[in-house]
Amino acid sequence: MYKIALLPGDGIGREVVVAAHHILKQLGQNKKYACTYLDAGWDCFVRTKTALPAATLSALKAGNFNGAIFGSVSSPSTKVAGYSSPIVQLRKELDLYANVRPVFAPVAPAQQQPSPDNIGSHLEGTVSAAVGQHTKKVQPIDILIYRENTECLYVKREREYLDSNGRKSAVAERLITEYASRRIGRMAYISTLKRAAQRFSLAQSNDDDNSMAQRELLGSLTIVHKSNVLSLTDGLFRESILDEIQIINKSLEGTQLGAMIPKVQVKEQLVDSAVYKLYRPQSRGEFDVIVAPNMYGDILSDAGAALVGSLGLVAGANMNDLFCMAEPVHGSGPDIQIPTSQLSYTFEDLAADKNDLHHKMMTMSDANPIATIRSLSLLLRNLNELADAELIDQAVNQVLCDRSVRDRLTRDIGGKGKLLDTVELICSRLKKAT
Ligand code: NAI
Ligand code: MG
Repeated sequence: MYKIALLPGDGIGREVVVAAHHILKQLGQNKKYACTYLDAGWDCFVRTKTALPAATLSALKAGNFNGAIFGSVSSPSTKVAGYSSPIVQLRKELDLYANVRPVFAPVAPAQQQPSPDNIGSHLEGTVSAAVGQHTKKVQPIDILIYRENTECLYVKREREYLDSNGRKSAVAERLITEYASRRIGRMAYISTLKRAAQRFSLAQSNDDDNSMAQRELLGSLTIVHKSNVLSLTDGLFRESILDEIQIINKSLEGTQLGAMIPKVQVKEQLVDSAVYKLYRPQSRGEFDVIVAPNMYGDILSDAGAALVGSLGLVAGANMNDLFCMAEPVHGSGPDIQIPTSQLSYTFEDLAADKNDLHHKMMTMSDANPIATIRSLSLLLRNLNELADAELIDQAVNQVLCDRSVRDRLTRDIGGKGKLLDTVELICSRLKKAT
């Protein structure tokens, strides 16, 4: 039995976490997954004067859970005394140093077999056989972003002062350390090698593609930075990763994974031109795995979400070597959240599914739950529940590729459906597969 913490947060965060809970119930008919709701967020702050209650933090820190799913929280855009975003704090407190975000769009079977997201060194999966210019079929979008999750501008060391002319000014410190850069670089590079190895064996097992297995390159890692301007901070990020890669290469000499080193290209790209290249179909294929400091990684993943059609599709996982907290890339969607005038409930009601509240929420919600359901799959991969993760990925990919159900999908991707429709479409495919 796995114990999973659910932190719904605010707005659509609640709606999509309820959807993920529903999928877990469906998968765990034999009570494989036990879920517990934990309080956090803006609404929690308004009620209790803290956005991250000690009970929530201590339950997570005590190791009571095998994994967690975080929805999203609403944070005010102006300073509110005593408030601090709980997700930023959680990432730091739990030392979840990597935020892994696969930007992936399945291509309909006629063109290319849909393939599930692959996720990093701890989360085995399969990748699409195509990488960038190496594909001979339709080129799917299959980019894996590693965002450093503990430092950069998100250390929130800001202060205001009056300059010598008495004008209001403000500064923010941007922290980059060799330690944090090395460890995110290590995770991203190992993941790049593993993706290359998966492509290699995928291509080898398919006679038609055997020539692809022999190709020079099967993957790449792009270090994104702006060291032409920020030569000390971004310079340190870049140099630490490049040095770490040399160390990894030496340690892998003679191993199976080491055989992939010559098949993987290590590149770098300034952050602004990285966004430019990402948006140009001609150059998009140059990206396979990307590693970036916290803020660039945050921005690149929303940009990536636009590439695949919606923020409602892009999964994420906050992780370290021991624990994973799944979290969709999107925020609390205040423009589409169910208005409290239409459905009012307390956190306790939500935690207890009072009066079939979850079903009501799913019926009323316009939020796309796919980002969170895919995040759940990342969590399950982290728990080594590969068969369940695979089931979810295949079900999601089938739903996204099935033209006949397009109308039932949510509005962000052109449908007219509600959250519940998407959940039902995915569940019916899970049922068929089991
Ligand atoms: P957002 O991601 O909430 O929304 C951006 C746009 O994408 C909106 O039009 C929204 O409706 C749409 N969208 C997002 N997720 C969707 C989904 N699942 N289905 C359909 N449409 C979806 O970002 P925004 O508007 O910049 O921020 C809103 C709030 O969320 C703010 O309070 C912000 O602080 C918070 N936020 C929280 C995050 C977290 O908890 N990790 C991350 C990003 C923002
Ligand atoms: Mg973001």
